[in-house]
Formats: sequence, C-alpha cells, structure tokens
Amino acid sequence: MAKTLDLERILHKQGFGSRKLCRIMIINEEITVNGEMCDDPDAEFSLENLHYTVKGEPWDYREKSYLMMHKPANYECSHKTQHHPTIYSLLPHPLVERGVQCIGRLDEDTTGLILISDDGQFIHRMSSPKHKVPKIYEVTCKHPIVEANIHALLQGVQLVDEPAPIAALDVKQISERVIHMTLAEGKYHQVKRMVAAISNRVEALKRIQIGVLKLPEDLKEGEWRWLNEVDKSKLML
Ligand code: URA
Repeated sequence: MAKTLDLERILHKQGFGSRKLCRIMIINEEITVNGEMCDDPDAEFSLENLHYTVKGEPWDYREKSYLMMHKPANYECSHKTQHHPTIYSLLPHPLVERGVQCIGRLDEDTTGLILISDDGQFIHRMSSPKHKVPKIYEVTCKHPIVEANIHALLQGVQLVDEPAPIAALDVKQISERVIHMTLAEGKYHQVKRMVAAISNRVEALKRIQIGVLKLPEDLKEGEWRWLNEVDKSKLML
C-alpha cells in the first residue's frame, strides 16, 4: 500500500512552515493537490507522484531533496556567513527550512559544482574519505605551468601541517596557465595549497566535476536544479 499523509503534515514536512501556518494556508485555499484546490488540512493523500502548488507555485512531493548548484563567486557555503551572502539564499525557502546542507565546501571565491541535500546518509556517502569521490577542478594559475610542475603535482607535494606529500590523481594541461586537476580528497584550501607548493598561485578556481557528474553547461552561475535518478546513480558508482 502506498504511504498516505494528511495535507497539513505533508506541507510541514516539505518545509512550508509550522503545522499551524500550513493549516492556515490550506484553509485559506492557497493549496492545490494534483490539480485541485484542497481546503481540508486533514485530507489524506498518497505520497507517490504527488504534485501540489503553494500560492500558485508548483512542487513535487520529495521524501528527501538532492540538488546541484553552480556556485557563484562571492558566496559562502555556510548557514552563518561572515563576509558574503550564503549560497542558501539562492534556494527557495522551503528547502532551507528542510535543513539542506552542501556536501563539502568551496571557498568564497571558488565557483562551480556543489551538491546539496537533506539526506544524511547521502551526505555521509559523498563526503566520507573512505569513498574518495574524485573531484575535478579547473585551475587558472598566475604563472605558466611547466611539465615539471605537472610531474610534481602527480608525484605529490608536501603541504604545511600534512604528515605526508599529497598527490593529484590526474593533471591535464588545458592551456599555458590552465590545468584540470583531479583530487581524491578535499582538504582545506587543497588546490590553492598544492599550487602554492609548486611556486604558483591560483587566480581562478572552478569545480567542474564530482565523480562522473559534470557541471552542466547550461547551468548558469547562481542556478540550481534537482538531481535526477541518472545523476544520483552516477554519483553512487
Ligand atoms: N581547493 C581549494 O583550494 N579551494 C576550494 O574551494 C576547493 C578546493
């Protein structure tokens, strides 16, 4: 039997505010479910393929939320930010209310692909060092990158406060000052510190891939979208 729940609880679970607030919106005829207005907070609905609108805005019922964002520069990956707005301000409020978190942080000046979810197991799976999900960064350096630099990054460079040298999984030269660097771990400022270790400096940093999931070309800076089943399965490889 498909699971059912009353409308008041459905809206509350989906992040539309307190039970009382959700009840008021329902009684005020601000909600439609599967195409029809419903003003009964106790009406029960199957959670499968449930489509609803809140004040005219369409939503699908989602037990958990999984999304990707193209993080813009000058945004912080934190709920309590210090100098810049938070990336969570780019999301609809109900998602933030549901407690979504980004999976690993990018620096405020880094752009690119970031995953966001409220599924604790998924967050753990994606961020646990045990699973070593590789991440690819497009790194624009201040000075030209020479063959010996790429060799050093692949062999491992010694970073301050790290017990052993850290190596990139892969480094591809794209142009004189741009490389694509694949890392297995996500240590604090890792790309910038590795580039500093080869006496260069990062001028622009963009994460372009996580596992085999690429940052979609049509996802503009500041935009987000739901992960579909194919995206999710790519991340679970
Ligand atoms: N490495 C960095 O130095 N910064 C990031 O934001 C991500 C990886």
